[in-house]
Amino acid sequence: MQNALIAALGKDFPWAQHLHCYKSVTSTNLLAKEMAAKGAPHGTVLLASHQTAGRGRLGRSFHSPENSGLYLSLLLRPQCNAEALMHLTCAAAVASCDALEAACGHRPGIKWTNDLVWGTRKLGGILTELGWTGDGRLAYAIVGIGINRTQQPQDFPPELQSMAASVSMMAGKSVEALPLATQMLLSLYKMDQNLLSGKAAMLASYRRDCITLGKDICVLSGDTVQYGQALDVDEQGGLTVRFTDGTVRTVAAGEVSVRGMYGYV
Ligand code: BTN
Repeated sequence: MQNALIAALGKDFPWAQHLHCYKSVTSTNLLAKEMAAKGAPHGTVLLASHQTAGRGRLGRSFHSPENSGLYLSLLLRPQCNAEALMHLTCAAAVASCDALEAACGHRPGIKWTNDLVWGTRKLGGILTELGWTGDGRLAYAIVGIGINRTQQPQDFPPELQSMAASVSMMAGKSVEALPLATQMLLSLYKMDQNLLSGKAAMLASYRRDCITLGKDICVLSGDTVQYGQALDVDEQGGLTVRFTDGTVRTVAAGEVSVRGMYGYV
């Protein structure tokens, strides 16, 4: 895969020398963290055909069977502080939609904050993790992207069968790993180039793709459930909600997850 991917991207692709493809790893995000600690540069990309311990947001797992999905982590060393990067997961979600649209002709939606969806089903997700220097400055950001590529509904574990989808299900035909990975890397490179200067345009795309906006939702925080309507996504990627008691507040992705009133979306 590695040579074919470099050939598809062109050897002048700026991240070509920092591309690592694996058959099987625990988690590309975990491995990226280990590489970051050893000094791996900005633009290091890890791709795996299989993860034995794929990780999702809020401590969940990400089902990552062999040769069925795209499992990718990108290591960035942004020259800014963490506050200026609060929109990174949103930017990665828009980049993933762009890549999927280019690779298979269908643009998925985004369920705030980090889920890629097709109709009422989850197609993939994004896990962004930050690393710090000893004196508390931002050392790196890892953007982990997992996309279900070839599964049919019966291939998912029983508890996911009614809510998970794959690119094959969305496109009605199989999409090879190589063109999808190629489009994903091209999109992520463009995202990185525009991360700070293109924030307003990116957020406009995010709001267009975000299927949560306008919906009646449940906001879940630990054991607490609150009901409201999703109004907007703010500059930091937070979700502005009008709760049923009339108050309007913006919730941050690190604290909560949302569900539709009647199911996953
Ligand atoms: C989520 O659904 O909450 C986020 C899922 C993110 C999964 C990807 S797969 C590649 C990278 N490595 C991981 O362990 N997780 C991310």
